[in-house]
Amino acid sequence: MPKLIVINVDGEHRELDAPVGRTIMQIVRENGYDLEGACEGALACATCHIHVDARWYGKLDKVGEDETDMLDFADEPSPTSRLSCQIEMCEDLDGLIVTVPREP
Ligand code: FES
Repeated sequence: MPKLIVINVDGEHRELDAPVGRTIMQIVRENGYDLEGACEGALACATCHIHVDARWYGKLDKVGEDETDMLDFADEPSPTSRLSCQIEMCEDLDGLIVTVPREP
């Protein structure tokens, strides 16, 4: 099974099982992280915001216009910000590294 590496606000790394077809938001939440995801993936909030490791950012599908618009509402955005509900796990993303930002 692919793995997802999550770094929390304290810099602690965890390696999670990341089933193909689950979104990064679902995987992160199912493993106990405090990632709200208020709209459950409908691209109507930015509470599933994460930072993707720079080495991985370019390997993801391009950010859609709707996601770009919604990222304007993310807390502490960075050049590698993404909405985690829009990234679906696949074999090619095995080892993906993301950081969960601090809750507001
Ligand atoms: S959960 Fe609302 S945009 Fe991702």
